[in-house]
Amino acid sequence: MKREAKSLVMVCNMSSLPTAALLKLPAFSLKTEADTARLAAAYAAQLGAGDVMLLSGGLAAGKTSFVRAFAAALGMSEGVSSPTYTLVNLYPTSTVPLLHMDAYRLENVAEFYDLGLEDELETRISMIEWGGKLAAEFDEVFELDLQMTNQSGARLATVSARGPRAQATLPAILERFRRATP
Ligand SMILES: Nc1ncnc2c1ncn2[C@@H]1O[C@H](COP(=O)(O)OP(=O)(O)OP(=O)(O)O)[C@@H](O)[C@H]1O
Ligand SMILES: [Mg+2]
Repeated sequence: MKREAKSLVMVCNMSSLPTAALLKLPAFSLKTEADTARLAAAYAAQLGAGDVMLLSGGLAAGKTSFVRAFAAALGMSEGVSSPTYTLVNLYPTSTVPLLHMDAYRLENVAEFYDLGLEDELETRISMIEWGGKLAAEFDEVFELDLQMTNQSGARLATVSARGPRAQATLPAILERFRRATP
């Protein structure tokens, strides 16, 4: 998170800090929900504690479905429910604990910081639905945008990574997904 950096900006009265470059790859199709689950499993194999993934896309685009498959790939037997009303759900898994958040109802970034999730974000893998509104708050972050298509069951996926670690990891994730796709 960039909170400390932001207060530093205010103290130093600088206009902005350099933002980590964004690696954005061409969109590709997830033809079925099983494809979405395979992509989630590919991320689960590479992400670790402290990694944050921002999920965007309209209503019913498949954000929660992605997190459900991600949690299952981490070895979680319990079902993932949507955090629409709870805002944040925390899960133990057999590997890395998971934070699942829905930022839909956050009105501004200050409300996110008011949740006091700093420690949780450091010790868990975090999946944030409607996370696009928080993109500027992370130096290191994975992003996935899912869009409905006119083909029922198919979604258009756009993946990106901000920060050197995320960018170094993304190719391995996509390679794993490609190898798992029939
Ligand atoms: N390729 C696909 N990937 C993901 N979900 C799919 C796909 N095809 C169909 N679906 C269906 O689309 C729905 C996605 O619902 P989901 O709750 O995951 O969306 P969401 O993006 O989390 O919505 P919300 O904005 O309400 O949180 C599910 O019913 C799922 O079965
Ligand atoms: Mg959802």
